[in-house]
Amino acid sequence: MTNEHVSFRDVEQVFPARGKQDPVHALGPISFAIRPGEFFSVVGPSGCGKSTMLDVMSGLTRPTRGQVIFEGSPLDGTVPDGIGVVFQEDASFPWLTVWDNVAFGLRRRGVDAAEIRRRVDYALSFMGLAAFTKAYPSQLSGGMRQRVCIARTLVMQPRLILLDEPFGALDQQTRLLMGDELLRLWRETGATIMLITHALDEANLLSDRIGVMSARPGTFISIVETGWAKDRDSTLAELPEFGAVSSRLWALLRSESMRAMGQHAASRSSLAGKAA
Ligand SMILES: Nc1ncnc2c1ncn2[C@@H]1O[C@H](COP(=O)(O)OP(=O)(O)O)[C@@H](O)[C@H]1O
Ligand SMILES: [Mg+2]
Repeated sequence: MTNEHVSFRDVEQVFPARGKQDPVHALGPISFAIRPGEFFSVVGPSGCGKSTMLDVMSGLTRPTRGQVIFEGSPLDGTVPDGIGVVFQEDASFPWLTVWDNVAFGLRRRGVDAAEIRRRVDYALSFMGLAAFTKAYPSQLSGGMRQRVCIARTLVMQPRLILLDEPFGALDQQTRLLMGDELLRLWRETGATIMLITHALDEANLLSDRIGVMSARPGTFISIVETGWAKDRDSTLAELPEFGAVSSRLWALLRSESMRAMGQHAASRSSLAGKAA
């Protein structure tokens, strides 16, 4: 494989006008590439086009302009087998047990029963869910339900995993644990990961590189390389170098967040600037 697992070439997304609403230029033009086996995170102000970027990268949405190249071929409007997606909202099926939730995609793909059993049992034990196979999602905590969703993606053996604010609804403690889980999954599967998050420390801790997005239409104002070792975990957060990267991310994002909040916030910040 080349040094580009997935790449955007001049990608732009414009949502057409609807009724009285003007068209929305959500994304781009943006060009960048994620390297094979890389952990790449995306941070940016709310509404800047992060979820749009993920939809386009998964193949689910065809961009208005430009191309997405995955493993050397352009995406054509369907999600290829090699890509798995985990969404923010709990996407488990409430009427299926944990085991059947995780088996769902493999059954639909027509994989034979013995192989399904092997892969589902592995994914469940990997995600610490072996004791909950017969439970229904409603009987689990939010963190456990999100593990089910990750297991459901993992079982398909994706080579590129896209996660859209997967821990957004979880408490801080669970978030930290899930971050370490995600690092373990990344190391053991060798998959390439693209994570969207609004938590700067989370992006910092987990990533090889972090793309910082501008206000809408989203493009990268900077891509920050962390240089962390592959066997990192949440204890990294205690190092001074870690704080330096977080400060840099915050400085980059601050002006964009102000811009995204609009004229009012912008004029207030300029007043604050004069006072300083
Ligand atoms: N299907 C759609 N039709 C029209 N506008 C959309 C659609 N999806 C997203 N948008 C708009 O595009 C912009 C970017 O949205 P989104 O990618 O969800 O942002 P983020 O995930 O960064 O918060 C927003 O202004 C949003 O309202
Ligand atoms: Mg979003």
